[in-house]
Amino acid sequence: MKLKQLETLLGDLQQFTTPKVELEQYPTGPHIASRLLYTAENSFDDISNKVVADFGCGCGTLGAAAALLGAEQVIGIDIDPQSLEIASMNAEDLELDIDFVQCDISNLGWRGQIVDTVVMNPPFGTRKKGIDMDFLFVALKVASLAVYSLHKTSTRDYIKRTALRDLNASSAEVLCELRFDVPQLYKFHKKKEVDIAVDLWRFVPKRSRVKDN
Ligand SMILES: C[S@@+](CC[C@H](N)C(=O)[O-])C[C@H]1O[C@@H](n2cnc3c(N)ncnc32)[C@H](O)[C@@H]1O
Repeated sequence: MKLKQLETLLGDLQQFTTPKVELEQYPTGPHIASRLLYTAENSFDDISNKVVADFGCGCGTLGAAAALLGAEQVIGIDIDPQSLEIASMNAEDLELDIDFVQCDISNLGWRGQIVDTVVMNPPFGTRKKGIDMDFLFVALKVASLAVYSLHKTSTRDYIKRTALRDLNASSAEVLCELRFDVPQLYKFHKKKEVDIAVDLWRFVPKRSRVKDN
């Protein structure tokens, strides 16, 4: 599938109807979402025929993009049941087979590297301090190939240091810097739209020991 076609399909998805500020529900726009998944697939071969998890999937944009690019299985996880309902409808509209799980990522009971790739636009931690790193911690425990994630550019040095030192990453690379459009979603937003600088990261987890037979 061509990049433009992917972006158009993602642009038609329904997004949060009543976004919850405490969960930092900001949708990833089709431009960024399509490029994130397209890069993961075309530069690194991390999507097609792979098991992909979308952490904090919201209305399912990143997971849908993974499915459209030929992922073998996609699992979308979010704490918010209303978002998951919208995500299911979006998947149905696109005739995509995606599994959705309602769960707090911090309580995800998965053991070992049971998916190939995690894609995520986690909460940045403006409401619940440290939640971005909680997401990254879990993602780097359960993925065997790679974790793609968006984080504020202002946190770049901290993210790199912590991922390599404490979170099981063998490499942590910023693939590009993007402008993330935040529309006027909440009452406290004074401006119609602002954009914030975010980094698209690719983390490679350390290999877990696999028993040889
Ligand atoms: C920035 S939004 C991204 C939504 C979606 N992935 C996208 O790209 O459009 C963050 C998402 O994380 C979810 N979330 C927040 N805290 C969570 C938690 N502890 N466990 C699971 N999901 C959570 C929110 O409900 C929200 O859907």
